[in-house]
Order: sequence, then structure tokens, then C-alpha cells
Amino acid sequence: MNVDRRRLEQSIEELGRIGQTPRGGLTRLALTDEDKRGRDWMVARMREAGLTVTVDQMGNIFGQRAGTASLPPVMMGSHVDSVPTGGRYDGQLGVLCGLEVIRTLNDQKLRTRHPVTLAIFTNEEGARFQPAMIASGVMAGKIALEDAYNARDKDGIRLLDELERIGYLGSEPCVPRPFRAYLELHIEQGPFLEEEGLSVGVVEGIVAIAWSRLTIHGVQDHAGPTPMRIRHDALVAAAEVIGGVRRIAREIGGDLVTTIGNLVVTPNIVNAIPGRVTLSIDMRDPQDATLDQALARLTSVVREACEREGVRYELENYWRVPYTPFDRDLVDTVERAARGAGARYRRIRSGAGHDAQYMAAIGPTGMVFVPSHDGRSHCEEEFTAIDDIEHGARTLLLAAVDLAGQA
Ligand code: GLV
Ligand code: MN
Ligand code: MN
Repeated sequence: MNVDRRRLEQSIEELGRIGQTPRGGLTRLALTDEDKRGRDWMVARMREAGLTVTVDQMGNIFGQRAGTASLPPVMMGSHVDSVPTGGRYDGQLGVLCGLEVIRTLNDQKLRTRHPVTLAIFTNEEGARFQPAMIASGVMAGKIALEDAYNARDKDGIRLLDELERIGYLGSEPCVPRPFRAYLELHIEQGPFLEEEGLSVGVVEGIVAIAWSRLTIHGVQDHAGPTPMRIRHDALVAAAEVIGGVRRIAREIGGDLVTTIGNLVVTPNIVNAIPGRVTLSIDMRDPQDATLDQALARLTSVVREACEREGVRYELENYWRVPYTPFDRDLVDTVERAARGAGARYRRIRSGAGHDAQYMAAIGPTGMVFVPSHDGRSHCEEEFTAIDDIEHGARTLLLAAVDLAGQA
């Protein structure tokens, strides 16, 4: 049994056109008009495939293929939002491979005991509304619905208002729902599978993640008449923090990674001393204890940098996800499926967050990785070869059938 490679390629092409950038990438931020068009396209394909489609209070979309018994479903899913100037594989590939699995079951007229459900999660990226994985977080009971609704984008627009505006504020409660298994296919977003000539990664778990927000309050003043000795420059303090955060990773070492990806400077003009800077800090490590250590160092890096410049600050450590190991039996199931699919594979850990991380708090969860060319993602160059995608999709198919049980 195999997926239809040409049909899968065509759906990657079609969905990839919605929100595509001139350089072949994708900008489809959560709950924008492009996201609505992407969702609408998916819902139409799900209905064509005979799925019963429902939408929950967080705009998560579920399409269910009935089973022959009254049992919890095998869920496959991912997301269709993207980062700005991102690629057409991150998230998209997981929902399209899930769709392809369901289309294949239909072609084969294969009945399963458990229902098989395709899930599309809202705002996985955290690019527009923070934190990332907000909707699976609500579903898992880790983020309050109220807090998620009140998340605001950089222009102050509320998540709830945007859900309503694009017509995806559903009525199904967004609460933990029973499932036989949750399976997510995703691009690796790192270099290992390609370097080792493998086409599938059997994911064992996801690193711990911590996000912080730092606001530095300097004194806005004229760039000309203000002597250097009386300045309190928020950006100078921020620059020290940036260097300090890089140093945290260098000094602690191991697998720790630290990133400052967002910086907002006010008033951000040529001839004023910056009065305020806000910046984001993203730190990840497989060990929760190492992340604790990194967060403690962050506190002193920020304090020292701001003291030196004589500026006030607020540091909020507002999001934390622990290291998440996947269900052992499910990891074995995925490994068997990879073997059955004829894929060259190995076990691997994810350095990126995924909805699977929150789903693992509700029920048995596993992931299938496929390689990322040059290890790159969250950029327009993101690319995965169709041979690898086919091996990944077939792995997903075999694992889903194994778990759902042929009737
Ligand atoms: C999601 O893309 C994340 O890992 O931040
Ligand atoms: Mn993703
Ligand atoms: Mn992503």
C-alpha cells in the first residue's frame, strides 16, 4: 500500500500558492486573509474526501473519517500558518501528508476500526500571536482559553477578533479529547537526516523551550546636543544583552541554543537616542535543568547590562514547555512503519516545537520527520525532495493503519 506521489506533489503545489512569496516561499501568518484561504482550501479537500469537518473554539479544524467501531480516533495533524517569508513545507507538509493518507484509505476502500482524523491547529508558529502552539496548548489545558483569546499581535489586534473575522471561531469545546494516537509528520528543520543520507526520522521527543520578553526603558533624547556622559541608551543596553545571551550558550555549551530574533526600537529614527527597546529571547535544551540554569544566567546578564547603562527594565519569562518524550510504544510503531515503508531512517530528537508537544500531554503521541535541504527552515529556501516526502508519507500511512486497525 502506498500514497499517490503525484497527487501529493500537486497538493503541495496548490496549497503552496496561497500566500506564496515572489521567491517561492510562503507568508501566511495565523488568522490573516491568506490563512483563511489556506484553511478554506483544506476544508474543501477534507469534505471532498468525505470527512466530517468540525471547528473548535480556538479555530482548530478536525476532519473525521468514520471507523467501524465506537473508539477514539487516530489523529494526524499539523498547521497551515507560516512565519513571514517562511517556506511551503513547515506545517503544510504534515496536513497534506495526513490528507494523502486519508485519500489513500479511500482509494483502497480500507475500513479501520478506529476513526482516522485530520487536525489543523491554529497559530502554531507563534509568529503573529505569542506563544507558539497556542491552540494545542489550550486543548491540552496548558494555556487558558481566555489568555489565548486575549493574545494580541504587534498592532494590538486580538486573536479572538481575528478568529471571528475570518469565520473560524467554532463552537466545539477546545478541551482534551480522547485519541488512540496523535501522529505528526514534519520537516526536520535541522541538518542531520540529509547529512546522513536518510529519508525518515523517527522522533523520540522534543526539547524544552523557554520564551522571554525584555523591555528596556532608557531616556529618549536628541542625538546631537546630548553629551555621551549623560546618556541612558536603551539600545546600547540591548546590544549588551544580545552579546550576553550568545555567551550563555557558549559557556553552558552542550545542546543549548539561544536566539534573539525580535527587536523593536523606539522611536527608531536616526537622530534620537533610543528611549525604549523590547526584545525576544528564545532558549532551548533537551534538559530542563540546563534551561533553568540558562534562565538564571539571563537574569544576571540583563541586570548587569541595564545597570551599566543606567536604564530600567522588565524581564518576563512568559512561556515554558518542558522536555517532552514521546510514547515509547508509538515510537516503536513509527519505527516499524518506517522500516515497512522501505525508508532509510534513524531515531532523532526535535529542536523545534510542534503541536505534538502539547498533544503528548493528552495521549500517545509520535512524529515522523523528513529531511530539510541544507537543514534550513523558517526561510524561503526551505525544501524537501519528493522522494523523501513519499517515504515519510508512506511511514505515516502504515503507522496510522497499524494504530487504527483494519476492520
Ligand atoms: C515553532 O516553529 C518553533 O519551534 O518555534
Ligand atoms: Mn511547524
Ligand atoms: Mn515553524
